[in-house]
Amino acid sequence: MTPAGPPLWPALLPPDSHGSDELCTVSAKGVRVRFADGRELLCGTSGLWNTNLGYGNEAIAEASARALREASYLNVFRYENVYAREAAAALVEVCGPEHYGRVIFSTSGGAANDATTKIVRQYHALSGAPQRKIVVGLLGSYHGLTFGGFALTGEDLGQRLYGVDQRLTRHVPPNEPAELERLMSRLGGQVAAVVVEPVLGSGAIPLDDAYVAALLRLRREHGFLLVADEVATGFCRTGSFFATQEWPEPPDLLITSKGLTNGTSAAAAVVVSHEVASAFTDAGAVLAHGETQAGTPVTCAAILATIKEMRRLDAEGMSRRLSALLDVELAALESDHPLVAGTVGRGCFRSIRLLGPDGAPLPQTEVPGVVAAIRRAGAIVHYGVNGVQLFPALTYSEADLRELMECVRKGLSAYAAQAVCA
Ligand SMILES: Cc1ncc(COP(=O)(O)O)c(C=O)c1O
Repeated sequence: MTPAGPPLWPALLPPDSHGSDELCTVSAKGVRVRFADGRELLCGTSGLWNTNLGYGNEAIAEASARALREASYLNVFRYENVYAREAAAALVEVCGPEHYGRVIFSTSGGAANDATTKIVRQYHALSGAPQRKIVVGLLGSYHGLTFGGFALTGEDLGQRLYGVDQRLTRHVPPNEPAELERLMSRLGGQVAAVVVEPVLGSGAIPLDDAYVAALLRLRREHGFLLVADEVATGFCRTGSFFATQEWPEPPDLLITSKGLTNGTSAAAAVVVSHEVASAFTDAGAVLAHGETQAGTPVTCAAILATIKEMRRLDAEGMSRRLSALLDVELAALESDHPLVAGTVGRGCFRSIRLLGPDGAPLPQTEVPGVVAAIRRAGAIVHYGVNGVQLFPALTYSEADLRELMECVRKGLSAYAAQAVCA
């Protein structure tokens, strides 16, 4: 039988792109990534939105190496380990110890969303409301592609094809409080949780203040738990350590992943409020969630080192300063590039909405072509909704940002020229 392709089957790439050296990375340092075709490109994506402090942070590498040498592998499955204890305490400290008390380690954003669905359902069962099983997400949201996270993901990425069970999931549009209110008036007593991204990653759409206020009010009125999926917004991506620290009241559960180890380990964590955790402790209840690779020494050492580095470097301040520069650069791009319809997002989490050469919103099928044109111009950017997303590392210099914007401009112009000729 002839091979169906090279041995590596990469995620979410069409088969005709598999095996391309242009898309195969070799090494990374600072804010630059080297590819197998010999090119070095400016990273405008912070890896997969996770290398918030750039590539090759020495303190994180050193702490990880030490943990590997001294402890190799230890777990949190029917055992504890001192690395995980220390990382959990540090996470509670950055999230806010007055509200949060406990941490469950996981290995990916999707798996942490799976765990969260179990926690909220068991919490209600322990609180005398076992009928509360429905989990509400937002249309257009992304919570991963594991079966639980996939069910909650509010865009169609093939849930039906894969038989993802969404019978206990509902979706409502973001920033439309009336829709959530309507759902609650019908099903409120059956809802276990509402899970939201403070900034929806797929479109870089921030939840507005009125919507956050409505979420908090409806939580009081209907008794569901509020979960913030801060997988992407955490670790200073939008300014504060966590985006929900800007909310008037915190969520009941906070999920963190991407920036947690600065992208160096398969790590995620669910940070649980005192109140939710107490329901389990008071009842002597065991949560049926555990992952072999969760809370290992190397992961937890990386978490501790990342938090330490973020404090040492004042990552919140860096994020705010870069965000202000992005405001200026993106306003200039919007005013002088004919393909740019507008920009959305918050902090260092931005999306550029584009127009096609015909003046209509850029069709989604054209987005890979634009991303490729910007790559040819020298920078890596992500697919966005009708455009591209920018997630620069918080460590970007002003010159790095100017270079990124120059690559975006050149790429857009090259794409436009080629689209007109086609
Ligand atoms: C908000 C959010 N939740 C969950 C996920 C899934 O994380 P993972 O790819 O680690 O499963 C992502 C990934 O982009 C995300 O942005």
